[in-house]
Amino acid sequence: MNNSSDKPLVSIIIGSASDWETMVHCARQLEKFGIPYEKNISSAHRTPAKTAKIVSTAKDRGIKIIIAAAGGAAHLAGVCASETTLPVFGVPMKGWALDGLDSLLSTVMMPRGMPVCTFAIGKAGAVNAAVAALQVLALENADFEKTLKDYRAKQTSDVENAQFPEIK
Ligand code: RP5
Repeated sequence: MNNSSDKPLVSIIIGSASDWETMVHCARQLEKFGIPYEKNISSAHRTPAKTAKIVSTAKDRGIKIIIAAAGGAAHLAGVCASETTLPVFGVPMKGWALDGLDSLLSTVMMPRGMPVCTFAIGKAGAVNAAVAALQVLALENADFEKTLKDYRAKQTSDVENAQFPEIK
């Protein structure tokens, strides 16, 4: 157990229920790491007041990192950053029109002084946001540091032991 209580340390916010198909990979990775998290569906555009409330109160709930995911004109992570001093990780969704380039640029191109740590589009970004959350938490928690080291060591051994698939 990495955390002495089950209080969430990470807050996942998705702009639409349709983003969950991708962000479930982030949630699964957090669970594998033993990182407690909360999750909300809230949009920067459709429910701005709800988004502001979730984010502006996050620190008081003990949250350390916000992970925000949205697609299209993906302003969610940026809006989250404007409502908190917590680090905000943005995961661009692939979306429906421009293969996620729209979401990537909307998330990453933040103005000076208001960063969003932006990850790859889609599933890889979803998983990496969870890994990066572990890296941040590992800075001050020896159990999380061990989890991180074990995860990295397994990645190394998985590649070293990888076999070519059989040609059929
Ligand atoms: C964004 O618009 C959401 O984050 C989602 O990626 C996209 C489409 O939303 P839906 O129309 O599927 O609800 O705000």
